Amino acid sequence: MIGQLNHVAIAVSDIKKASNFYHFNLGADISELHELPEHGVQTVFVDLQNTKIELITPLGENSPIKAFLEKNPEGGIHHVCYEVLDINKATKKLSSEGYRILGDGQPKIGAHGKPVIFLHPKDCFGCLIELEEK
Ligand code: CO
Repeated sequence: MIGQLNHVAIAVSDIKKASNFYHFNLGADISELHELPEHGVQTVFVDLQNTKIELITPLGENSPIKAFLEKNPEGGIHHVCYEVLDINKATKKLSSEGYRILGDGQPKIGAHGKPVIFLHPKDCFGCLIELEEK
């Protein structure tokens, strides 16, 4: 069902500093800063040849990554994102198998303008998994 690794997301407290590190020190191409108020995050994408790194930092008081950064003040790997061909099919399959989908259990539009779901990390060996329709 899952296809390519779309991105690995790293939560950071200072996104300017983190994107400068990827751009100037590691020599990677980076995107503009995007604000996603509906997800409570700001993001910068680092383009690699075979995948992307998504730098994320909290936006607003109710950001879902605020607690993560309180526990991991230096930042850390927050989630991995795999591509699927049909997000509705994947959502139905996984929820019928007992896997918890975060939020209201339905796909919503993610950082690339495509529908995504997040699977509960406690059901996925401690890793928050995002599935994104290709
Ligand atoms: Co993501």
